[in-house]
Amino acid sequence: MSRGFSNSFFSLLLLAITLAVTTSATPVVQVRDNLVRLPTAKRFNLTGSGTLLARDQARVRKLRARASAKIAGVEFVEDAVGSVPADNQAVDYVVNVGVGTPATTSDSLLVDTGSSNTWVGAGKAYVRTSSSTQTRDRVSVTYGSGSFSGTEFTDTVSLGDGLTITGQSIGVASRSQGFDGVDGILGIGPTDLTVGTLSPDTRTSIPTVTDNLFAQGTIPSDLVAVSFEPTNSPEVTNGELTFGGTDSSKFTGSITFAPLTRTSPASEFFGINQSIRYGTSTSILSNTAGIVDTGTTLTLIATDALQRYQRATGAVLDNATGLLRLTQAQFQNLQSLFFTINGATFELTPNAQIWPRALNTAIGGNANSIYLIVGDIGTPSGEGLDFINGLTFLERFYAVFDSTNKRVGFATTPFTDATTN
Ligand SMILES: *[C@@H]1O[C@H](CO)[C@@H](O)[C@H](O)[C@H]1NC(C)=O
Ligand SMILES: *[C@@H]1O[C@H](CO)[C@@H](O)[C@H](O)[C@H]1NC(C)=O
Ligand SMILES: *[C@@H]1O[C@H](CO)[C@@H](O)[C@H](O)[C@H]1NC(C)=O
Repeated sequence: MSRGFSNSFFSLLLLAITLAVTTSATPVVQVRDNLVRLPTAKRFNLTGSGTLLARDQARVRKLRARASAKIAGVEFVEDAVGSVPADNQAVDYVVNVGVGTPATTSDSLLVDTGSSNTWVGAGKAYVRTSSSTQTRDRVSVTYGSGSFSGTEFTDTVSLGDGLTITGQSIGVASRSQGFDGVDGILGIGPTDLTVGTLSPDTRTSIPTVTDNLFAQGTIPSDLVAVSFEPTNSPEVTNGELTFGGTDSSKFTGSITFAPLTRTSPASEFFGINQSIRYGTSTSILSNTAGIVDTGTTLTLIATDALQRYQRATGAVLDNATGLLRLTQAQFQNLQSLFFTINGATFELTPNAQIWPRALNTAIGGNANSIYLIVGDIGTPSGEGLDFINGLTFLERFYAVFDSTNKRVGFATTPFTDATTN
């Protein structure tokens, strides 16, 4: 009796404490899984050569080539791949990361789920501190938008909130090309993408920052979630990365997870199976493999799928931008695109399918035109990488890259139906 009483009294006390914590005015970050929240800034710069589409297509070719080289177990040779000169990232999200003890600089790094090496030194010089240790390896990685090579160090890396990773492998660039205005990359893709980037240890993979946060017990799960938002301005801080958990204030409803695809080469990345339908019944892409990538701006689909989309919308190809263009009347009639992922359907509204009109001239377009953000991936369907859900998709849907459970999740957000474009 008295035991039962004290138990229920204790429960009540706990409940009271829990309520006090959860309703307190200043939220306690640790309550929600010790989330590391990193604000990400969106930046836009298309002053170099090549259209937005050409840059995205260059990235796809590099991703494919890197995957093929890895599958074949050979070293990736950049010059084997034809590419347009892509001398800067046109649209990117960057985070500020500290390196060293104490962190002597704050580096602006591109957030990239399509690569997995973290490196610095493209802008500011790397400063060695007491926690810096040079290894015997060199590192090199090629991206669609550039490349870097340099030496490998292990060092302390600080993400926001003073959360630190010790002994993180980083590349320190001695040569980098195509990374104006940033210091390097925060590579948060699958760990295996780092295989072949070290020499002489070409067979060794490198744990990513997410892997190390998990291994060092800082986060409960090897997972990173990204929240981006559509915007009309060329530069804005409106994104957020969380490590180890999801931020329920950034999405609505529940998260639908899809297992990582087994289809190669999409399986080398954060790849999933998905089908795409236009309006109520026009199939654009039947269930097939592709990837989810923060380093691609547009939403790319196989050439034959793009032709079906073009026929359905009545769009014409715009020479200046490489994008499909609609008349005002066609835009009025534009239907939603439905992405079906593991049984759940995500609706990309008409407004979400167009490039923000305030940024038309920044991509070489006409201020009064209407351009679609769905572009040609450059190869026919059936090649194992038939779509890329890029930033224009991720600005409408919350995404969770879950390495522990080998899956990618999506949820709607307060911006899924926004009409900002
Ligand atoms: C934009 O890109 C150009 C050409 O690559 C570069 O010179 C310039 O520094 C970049 N601007 C910013 C703000 O990064
Ligand atoms: C994805 O699609 C491929 C090809 O249709 C199929 O073999 C595979 O089982 C599907 N699911 C996964 C998780 O790969
Ligand atoms: C489109 O661009 C191609 C190659 O740059 C050019 O040959 C063609 O004349 C252009 N078409 C129009 C309608 O401007």
